[in-house]
Amino acid sequence: MNVLIFASSPNKDGLTAQCAEAAAEGVRSAGVGAEIVYLNDERIGLCQACSRGWGTCLTEHRCQVEDGFQALHEKTKQAAGYVLVTPVYFGQMSESAKACFDRLRRCEATRGDQSALTGKPAIGVAAAGGSGGGIVSCLDEMNRLFAHLRCAAFDMITVTQKSRPYKPAAIRAAAAAMAAALGKA
Ligand SMILES: Cc1cc2nc3c(=O)[nH]c(=O)nc-3n(C[C@H](O)[C@H](O)[C@H](O)COP(=O)(O)O)c2cc1C
Repeated sequence: MNVLIFASSPNKDGLTAQCAEAAAEGVRSAGVGAEIVYLNDERIGLCQACSRGWGTCLTEHRCQVEDGFQALHEKTKQAAGYVLVTPVYFGQMSESAKACFDRLRRCEATRGDQSALTGKPAIGVAAAGGSGGGIVSCLDEMNRLFAHLRCAAFDMITVTQKSRPYKPAAIRAAAAAMAAALGKA
């Protein structure tokens, strides 16, 4: 059993990475495996809206744009739970998160309740190192993504310049609780 943790900042030593590492510690403390995927390293390009709107994402629930996405899609299907940590950019998820999850949503949301993520728990973390402006819209965007993917929002967590000293502990605790619940499922 494995929890997949998506970190979507280019900085490996920044706030997003710190939050992702806290989540991994929490998951592992509950005896569950955790893997952090740094989306900026994954060579995942943009959705091409193939064939005037829909390609094999609609008909076969796989993306026909061959790049790093296919391997990550498979890994995502196998995982038992998820943590999505994104920096807040202009009140939204970062570009690497949007590129990946736009494509995942097309492949899995089109399966409805047969989505590979159906009922699996997910934690969203919006890491705003700036003013914190736009943090709510970013969380809302993640919450809608979880709904489209049919996963179950376990917690939605904000981190700002002011809260960053104490939020990693909350992320660790949330991830541990989510993983512990998985162990009992
Ligand atoms: C293009 C860009 C847009 C940003 N927009 C916002 C924003 O809307 N609100 C905010 O509080 N911080 C904003 N920030 C600051 C980032 O959210 C903050 O630096 C983030 O925590 C960086 O995470 P990192 O250390 O993992 O790179 C922005 C940063 C960049 C680079």
